[in-house]
Amino acid sequence: MNETNFGLAAIGAFKIAVLGLGHVGLPTAVGFSSLGWEVIGADEDAAKVDMIKAGKVPFFEPGLDDLLNRSLGCGRFQATSEVTEAIRAATVVFICVGTPQREDGAADLSQIEAIARTIGRNLNGYKLVVEKSTVPAITALWIQRTIQRYSALKANEAGEDGNGKGRPAGPEALVADFDVASNPEFLQEGQAIENFFEPCRIVIGADSERARAILRDLYRGLQRPMVVTDVTTAELIKHAANAFLSTKISFINMVADICDEVGADVTRVAEGLGLDPRISPAFLNAGIGFGGYCFPKDLRALAHLAEQQGVDCSLLRAVERINTRRVEIFLDKVRNSVWVVSGKKVGILGLAFKPNTDDIREAPSLKIIDALHREGAELRLHDPWAMPAAKALFPPEAGRITYCESPYEVARGAEALLLLTEWDEYRHLDLGRLRDLMQVPALIDGRNFFAPEEARRAGFSYAGMGRRGGTPYARELAASSHPRPAVPIWTGMEADLNG
Ligand code: UGA
Repeated sequence: MNETNFGLAAIGAFKIAVLGLGHVGLPTAVGFSSLGWEVIGADEDAAKVDMIKAGKVPFFEPGLDDLLNRSLGCGRFQATSEVTEAIRAATVVFICVGTPQREDGAADLSQIEAIARTIGRNLNGYKLVVEKSTVPAITALWIQRTIQRYSALKANEAGEDGNGKGRPAGPEALVADFDVASNPEFLQEGQAIENFFEPCRIVIGADSERARAILRDLYRGLQRPMVVTDVTTAELIKHAANAFLSTKISFINMVADICDEVGADVTRVAEGLGLDPRISPAFLNAGIGFGGYCFPKDLRALAHLAEQQGVDCSLLRAVERINTRRVEIFLDKVRNSVWVVSGKKVGILGLAFKPNTDDIREAPSLKIIDALHREGAELRLHDPWAMPAAKALFPPEAGRITYCESPYEVARGAEALLLLTEWDEYRHLDLGRLRDLMQVPALIDGRNFFAPEEARRAGFSYAGMGRRGGTPYARELAASSHPRPAVPIWTGMEADLNG
């Protein structure tokens, strides 16, 4: 591939294509357009594209609506379902398609591979192809090989839509002029806009000076620290970052379990840890564990890659194991509170995998709902944004699954109230009113969201995750194999059943 010392100035007028308009692609596309670049966002899902064209964001992401409408309004952003047209019109092509996981835990790269073939078949001039999707190290090499192989297919072999289903190209593919780079995203759902415009760092992985120069140019408006590496190193930075953050969460969750046993408060332990700048307070919130589309699958994909290469990744497997057990530990607290689950009215506040998103993928709430439903509970659910997604998985069922308009509706007649997502709007709940609405005011806080003393003052029995609750009595109950006495634990006087 050619090496030049020039970036976009050498290329002249150009467009950016962003392929895949999901949680990463859409913020990236409108982000670049807000920085002044011409952007075409492409997605095969025509219904999604129609929504975006109409200025509607297909998922909940604070601030994205406004930004999208401004980008559409100034004409620097357009959306299309014609992926091949977007590729042909662009010089810089960002790949933002999904990388779900296969059954064996490895990343499923079929969407990446398909898009690489399509790019290859539509290589009508120099293109910089940039991986933004999270992929295992060395994926860029495969993208490069695939584009090269398919780039010299003649139009008639590529099929009318040039969608990459024809046969691979011959030696003439060697003349293809393109670079493949990695520019991993670190966007957090719910904070994607802020993360785009004020990233802690921008990672650029490129093996040619030309690709590096173009990517530097693209981000010049942001003035943020840049880490410039080779492609494979950049790919690994992303996976390692997610694995490290997951490790921090599992670590503090392990400490929370110890706190429950010895009667300490994990939130204070986290405070004491986090003030050490070498540790930092971020990602030390103990609770029901990490979910979402990224951490669980990225952790497994990195572990899979490490095992394939014969690297000892037992640390990552332990992180995963600890996380998987969070739900069971939480459910034990629920069982400890209500005793027999069957027939009990259980209220659930929060369904999304974290606040400020309507995303429920791999949300701990799903396993908790499923388990309690199987055990015969009568569930009353609320989430400010994620109820439509939850309804698709757990449709309303008379007397068994009820979606409620407000947290107070959830509390009505409930015998336990579970907090699963720490939405800001739950912060201002009137605890006294909640208590009055409940049959049994037991609060089981999966995110250590409420202040235990406040909850107790309001008349709740409170159980958090690692919050000084494991009184000897509660532990005795938890350890006992005998049926537990139906003590009036809801008076909030005896104990907080954290056991
Ligand atoms: C994560 C990373 O934070 C982003 O940097 C990355 O770009 C993104 O994955 C991705 O790979 O696309 P995200 O999945 O949106 O972002 O959510 P996080 O805010 O990281 O939270 C992940 C999970 O960890 C949530 O379920 C959250 O509740 C949980 N969590 C987080 C804790 O249990 N404790 C904490 O202290 C922090």
